[in-house]
Amino acid sequence: MSEADVIAKFEAGLQAIASDYPAAFGACSTEPALRAVNARLVGPQGELNLLLKLLPEVAKEKRREVGQRSNQLKNQIQQTFQAKLAEIARAARDAELSATPLDISLPGRSHKPGRLHPLTRIKHDIIDIFVSFGFDVAEAPEVELYDINFNKLGFPPDHPATDMQDSFFIAPPAGSDPPSTLLRTHTSNVQIREMSRRQPPLAIISPGVCYRRDDDLTHSPMFMQVEGFMVDEGVTFAHLKGVLTRFVHRMFGPEIPVRFRPSYFPFVEPGGELDIGCVFCKSWERHKTGCRVCKDSGWIEILGCGMIHPTVLRNVGYDPQRVTGFAFGMGIDRTAMLRYGISDIRNLYDNDPRFLTQL
Ligand code: DAH
Repeated sequence: MSEADVIAKFEAGLQAIASDYPAAFGACSTEPALRAVNARLVGPQGELNLLLKLLPEVAKEKRREVGQRSNQLKNQIQQTFQAKLAEIARAARDAELSATPLDISLPGRSHKPGRLHPLTRIKHDIIDIFVSFGFDVAEAPEVELYDINFNKLGFPPDHPATDMQDSFFIAPPAGSDPPSTLLRTHTSNVQIREMSRRQPPLAIISPGVCYRRDDDLTHSPMFMQVEGFMVDEGVTFAHLKGVLTRFVHRMFGPEIPVRFRPSYFPFVEPGGELDIGCVFCKSWERHKTGCRVCKDSGWIEILGCGMIHPTVLRNVGYDPQRVTGFAFGMGIDRTAMLRYGISDIRNLYDNDPRFLTQL
C-alpha cells in the first residue's frame, strides 16, 4: 500500500470514529454500557489504537501531523466520556432522592432482653450493703439435718416448728424416728454450719431458700431469707443496733425511723424484732398513724434478731465467756413486697412476665 493510501485509510478511520462516538455514547444509559463503548473506541485494543498501528508505514514528517489529529480526537472522546459519566451519576442520584423514602421510623421487631427477677435484685441489694460493712457471703444446704436445723439452735423437742405438720421432712430410713433430714425451715442453719468450721472473729451474710408448710396470701411454701451474724470478743447489742440501723437506712432511705421490740427466738437471748416506719403511709412525716399495709400501726416488722444464745455458742464449740455475737434473719420476699407494694406473695413465684415487668 502506498503512503498516500495508508494516510487515506487512516483519515477515513478517524472520520468513522469521529462520526460514530457522539451517538454511541449518547445511547448509553448505564455506567457499564458507557465504559464498554469507551473501551471499544479508545481502549488498548480499541479502534483508535488499531488505526495507530498503520503509522509506522507513514514517513516521519507526516507521522507527526497525523498523530496529532488522532490525539485531538482521543481528547474529544475522553471529554465526552467524562461528561456522560457525570450525567449518568447525577441521574442515578436524582432517581434515588425522588424515590419513595425508606421509612426508618417504623418500629423494628425487638428482642425483649431478659432481666433479673425482683427477688434476685433485692437479694443482691441486701448482700451489697452487708459486704460493704465487711461481711462474708456463705451458703448452707437446703436439705438439712434435723439436728442442725433445730437442736443445735436450741429448739426444745416440743417446739411447734418441729412438728411434722409445719415442716417438710425427708422420708426417714426405716426405723429412724423422728426423721433425721428435712427441708430447712430457715436460713439459721448457716450459723451452726459456719461457726462449726470457723473461728471468731467472723461476720457472715447468707441468702437462701427455705421451706414451710404454709400457703396463703403472705406465705409461700418456698420462700427466701437472708441470715446474718457476727461473732467476736466484745460484740454487744449496741453493735447489732448500729449495723441493722445502718442497713435499714441504706436499704429503705436515711429518713426511715427504726424501732427494736423484744421478741422470742430459741437461738437468741435477748431476742427482738426490728420494725421500720411504714414506707407506704410514712406516718412519721404526717404525725398520724396508719394505712392498710401497716394495719394502722405506722410500723412494719422486717426482721428477727438478737444476741446469739450461749447454748448455741457452746454447741459449736465456742466459749461464751470469751466471745459473743449477734444474729438476724429477714425475709427477702417480705422486703420485696414492702419495696414494691405487692399484696400477694404468690405473684413473686408465678413468674408471669406481665406481672414481673411492672416491677
Ligand atoms: N430464723 C428466724 C425465722 O425464720 C429468723 C431469725 C430470728 C433469725 C432471729 C435470726 C434471729 O438469726 O436472731 O423466723
